[in-house]
Amino acid sequence: MSDIRVITPEEQEYQQLFIRQIREYYQKRCENTAPLAYVRTYGCQQNVADSERMKGLLSQMGFGFTESPEQADFILFNTCAVREHAEDRVFGNVGALKALKRRKPHLLIALCGCMMQQEHVAQKVYRSYPFVGLVFGTHVQHRLPELMAGVLFGGKRKVEIPSCDGVIAEGIPSVRDGGFKAFLSIMYGCNNFCTYCIVPYVRGRERSRDPETVVQEARELVEQGYKEITLLGQNVNSYGKGEAHGVTFPELLRRINAIPGDFVIRFMTSHPKDATRELFDTIAECEKVSRHFHLPFQSGSNRILKEMNRRYTREQYLELIEYARKTVPGITFTSDVIVGFPGEQREDFEQTLSLIREVGFASLFTFIFSPRKGTPAAQMEDPIPAEVKSAWFSEMTALQEELSGERLKNVVGTTQRALLEAEAGDYLEARLPDNSIVRVQGDPARIGEFVTVRITGARSYILTGEIEN
Ligand code: SAM
Ligand code: SF4
Ligand code: F3S
Repeated sequence: MSDIRVITPEEQEYQQLFIRQIREYYQKRCENTAPLAYVRTYGCQQNVADSERMKGLLSQMGFGFTESPEQADFILFNTCAVREHAEDRVFGNVGALKALKRRKPHLLIALCGCMMQQEHVAQKVYRSYPFVGLVFGTHVQHRLPELMAGVLFGGKRKVEIPSCDGVIAEGIPSVRDGGFKAFLSIMYGCNNFCTYCIVPYVRGRERSRDPETVVQEARELVEQGYKEITLLGQNVNSYGKGEAHGVTFPELLRRINAIPGDFVIRFMTSHPKDATRELFDTIAECEKVSRHFHLPFQSGSNRILKEMNRRYTREQYLELIEYARKTVPGITFTSDVIVGFPGEQREDFEQTLSLIREVGFASLFTFIFSPRKGTPAAQMEDPIPAEVKSAWFSEMTALQEELSGERLKNVVGTTQRALLEAEAGDYLEARLPDNSIVRVQGDPARIGEFVTVRITGARSYILTGEIEN
C-alpha cells in the first residue's frame, strides 16, 4: 500500500507561524536589512524546480538572495545522488564551508535533496561535518520554515529524512531563476526502478499533480510573460496513471496548448516504454509543443536493456522514432546513454554505436555507469576494467561529435523560428526548436522575443545566423 500524501492547506498554513518567527529573528539580527540566502542546486531540472519553491519560502521569510556564500546568512545545498561524481562535488563544496562557519558563527548551513534522502549519506554528513546545522530529505521540503526554526531557536543540529512514498505540496510560491523560461513540475517520483538508478529510492513513488492546478499554473506563467514552459517529471508519459481524473499526458498537453498566448511547451523526461503513438499525434496537432523530443535509450543492446529493466527493445525504440518522424515532420531527438553497465561486452557497446548512427541524434548526454548503493546493478558482476569503459566512452562521444557536425551542416541555409535567450559577448544567443543554439547579431532589448533566423554558417559545432524580422 502506498502512503503518498497530499499536504493539506492547514498543514501548509502551519508553516506561516515559523515564517513569521524567522522573519522577526532576522529583522533583529540583521538590523532591518534583509538577510541573504545562498542556494546552490546540483543535479537535474527537478532539483532546480524544488530549489525555486524553497526560494519561494525563503523569500516569505524575508530573505534576499546572493551568489556569494561569504555574504550569506543561510546556505542551502540541494544535492543530487545520480552518480558518484555528483556526490563527490557536494562533499568537496561542503568541506570548503568550514572556515566560513568559523568566521560567521550565526551562519546556518543546510543540506537537502536526493543525496541526503539516503540514510548512510545523511549520517556521514552529520558525523563528519559538525558545522552543518540541518540535513533534510526530499519529502519534507515544504517544511523548510519549521525545520530552520527548530535549529535556529532549538539550538540543536537536526536531521529530518522520514522515509515515505512521497508528498504533493501545493500553494508554495516559486522564485524562478530562468528569465522568461519556467519549469513546471507536473509529477514527482518514479516507479520504474531501472536497475542502475537511485532516483526511485530517493524521490519516492510516482505521483501526479492535479491537472487543473497544473493548467492554472501554466496560464499564470503565460500571463506573467514566460515564453517557454518545460513540464517536468521523471517519466512524464505516465502522467495521471492511477488517478481518478483520467487526464493523460497527451490530454494535459492539449489543455496547455489551448492557453492563449505566444509560448513554447517543452517537457522532460520521456520513457520509451510509455511514449505512445497518441503522444506523437498530439505533438503534431499542438502548434505550441516543441518539435524536439528527449528520449533516453540508455543502451542499444537488447541484452543490456533487459538487465537495466528498461522494458523496451532496440527495435521498439527505433519503431517509435520512425513513427515520430513520419507523424511530426522535422522532429529532432536527443537522448541519454550509459556505457560500461555491468557485464557489457564489446558486442553490446557496438549495438549502442549502431543505434546512435541509425537515429542521428541532435545531441547526446553520455554517462559512464556509476554504481549506486542500494540499487540492483551495484551488486552485479562488473569485470570490464575502468580504462576500457573510458575508451568506449571516448569512442562514443567522438562518433556523436562527427554526427552532430554533419547534422549542423545540413541546417545551414534553413530558416527557423528561435527564441532570443541571452547576450554572449558581441552576439545574442537564440534557441532553435531542436534545442541547439545559434549566434546572431541583434538588439539585446529583444531578448525574450521570438524571431525568424536564417542559418548562415556552422563552424566547430557553433551555428551562426541572421535575424530576418
Ligand atoms: N527519468 C529519466 C529517464 O528515465 O531517462 C532521467 C533519469 S536520470 C536523472 C538522468 C540520466 O542519468 C539517466 O537517463 C541515465 O542515463 C543517467 N544515470 C542514471 N543513473 C546512472 C548511473 N547509476 N550511472 C550512470 N548514469 C546514470
Ligand atoms: Fe531512473 Fe529509470 Fe526512473 Fe529514469 S525511469 S528516473 S532512469 S528509474
Ligand atoms: Fe539527481 Fe535527484 Fe535529479 S538524484 S538527477 S537531483 S532526481
